[in-house]
Amino acid sequence: MEKTLVLVKPDGVQRGLIGEVIARLERRGLRLAAAKFIAVSLELAETHYAIHKGKPFYDGLISYITSSPVMAMAWEGPNAVAAVRQTMGATRPTEAAPGTLRHDFALEIGRNLTHASDTVENGEKEVALWFKPEELVDWPREIDRWVFEK
Ligand code: RTP
Ligand code: MG
Repeated sequence: MEKTLVLVKPDGVQRGLIGEVIARLERRGLRLAAAKFIAVSLELAETHYAIHKGKPFYDGLISYITSSPVMAMAWEGPNAVAAVRQTMGATRPTEAAPGTLRHDFALEIGRNLTHASDTVENGEKEVALWFKPEELVDWPREIDRWVFEK
């Protein structure tokens, strides 16, 4: 099953929006595979955002993600990566479509509430970076056949 990493970033945690994010993903039909509430180490932050090293926003991004705890989750389902990014909305909240999380709850790119993996390959890599194999729960959900066609 396709998996994607979702983080409710420090701003989302501080603003009490963990439940809002989870509710939207549950309502969409995605299935939770793992979750933990953690303070992000500098090492994990730097590994996770290695692709952005050297960019002008990198230092601010590292201090943002390590500034307060995050809710880290793995969600799964058919096309989970694309579905979750659609629910989050565009990176820049003022470009996010109405009805998306970033449109409805954010204003600035540097306080855009959530992270979601951007490709299937990165979904696999990021879930493996944030979760040990034994932290992932493979479970049959009773309603799966009413949400997943196969
Ligand atoms: P994310 O990784 O957070 O799901 O978002 P994304 O793929 O849409 O955005 P990405 O390009 O991977 O950027 C990661 C995060 O860095 C911050 N950012 N700031 N000031 C800026 O120009 C800028 N660009 C990116 C955002 O917090 C973004 O989510
Ligand atoms: Mg990204």
